[in-house]
Amino acid sequence: MIRDPESFNALIDAITKLVREKLIPCEAEVAKTDEIPQNIQILMKQMGLFGLTIPEAYGGLGLTTEEEALTSMALCGASPVFRSLTGTNNGIGGMGIVMDGTEEQKQKYLPKLASGEFIGAFALTEPGSGSDAGALTTRARKQGDFYVINGTKRYITNAPEADIFTLMARTDVNTHDARGVSAFIVERNSPGLSVGKPDLKMGQRGAHTADVIFEDVKVPVSNVIGGVEGMGFKTAMKVLDRARLNIASVCVGVAQRLLNESLLYARQRKQFGQAINSFQLIQAMLADSKTEIYAARSMVLDAARLRDEGKNITMEASCCKLYASEMVGRVADRAVQIHGGAGYMQEYAVERLYRDVRLFRIYEGTSQIQQLVIAKHLIRENKTV
Ligand code: CAA
Repeated sequence: MIRDPESFNALIDAITKLVREKLIPCEAEVAKTDEIPQNIQILMKQMGLFGLTIPEAYGGLGLTTEEEALTSMALCGASPVFRSLTGTNNGIGGMGIVMDGTEEQKQKYLPKLASGEFIGAFALTEPGSGSDAGALTTRARKQGDFYVINGTKRYITNAPEADIFTLMARTDVNTHDARGVSAFIVERNSPGLSVGKPDLKMGQRGAHTADVIFEDVKVPVSNVIGGVEGMGFKTAMKVLDRARLNIASVCVGVAQRLLNESLLYARQRKQFGQAINSFQLIQAMLADSKTEIYAARSMVLDAARLRDEGKNITMEASCCKLYASEMVGRVADRAVQIHGGAGYMQEYAVERLYRDVRLFRIYEGTSQIQQLVIAKHLIRENKTV
């Protein structure tokens, strides 16, 4: 749902201008230094990009799911690491509070996330629990008005920058699965909380992940999200429903950028006395990429509209994440192929993007986990007809 097309188009135009004039020109520097320059971060804060999905009542723009999808596609005309910096506040780092937080928690944390004063991160994955998220072992023992937390979280996006964590920890020791997990808001400066060195990754330089270690960290009872124990796994899954759909939008945006780069190169590059875009084998690759981008974009917008109508889109979000993340891998591969030897060189954006997009098939649920979620829903629906 687009609430007000005129003001929404103005936002998309502003993002497109930012992408063209500021973000694309500094992409190579970001990849080299592994840092997004401060002036760019300030600009992104001023434009409200950290609070796109946070309700207007708490200082954000309160975008609908469809508006968020179109915004992510536009922002990902530049390296996906810029979206990653704002992505946790708008998605996995902020959504738990938006969806299930108490009024007090919303008032305390959401305005700071919306303005970008705070960075939020989502701490679910552990060294021993990735796809089997319900098997997490980080413990939260209740002691009076506090919980005492012990455990390690792994590959946590924006952990080095984070001011608050949405942490999933086990409050019921008698369980070993999704039951007995609670969600907490944990402040970075809590004694006993430490963040490891940023991980050395295959791509997405400029976006950071790290371990987060909890050693007898005391968290007030009032920081249990929603104030209810045992609901943490469901909060995490609800957050991931929306986040997976958004990653699919990100994939569409990056794929469109890869196609643009391919079109430009194929027009300029001459072989056998003519531009390579006149060769049918190059045209086939361009056409296949366009077709798949169009399919993924249509899927994402359809699922986003369904969600805006209040429908449950757990299965559709997984369909979109599965298809779009696999699609962008194929588009990136063709982009490198169209560039030939140049596509293997760091001087061309497609070399970097080829490495960046590999992550999309893994994080926020691997392709195989999306297949399981889709199949589970299909089989359940089939039982009732
Ligand atoms: N919405 C609401 N509730 C949900 C739900 C959803 N989408 N999905 C499951 N639930 C509920 C179920 O209804 C069930 O509740 P009841 O017990 O009351 O029936 C409960 O949660 C447990 O559900 P399952 O039995 O389906 O749970 P499971 O243990 O079999 O796990 C899974 C299912 C799909 C495999 C899940 O563990 C999963 O999604 N794994 C992948 C984890 C993942 O995506 N990790 C990425 C981490 S974030 C990241 O990558 C970014 C970063 O910064 C690190």
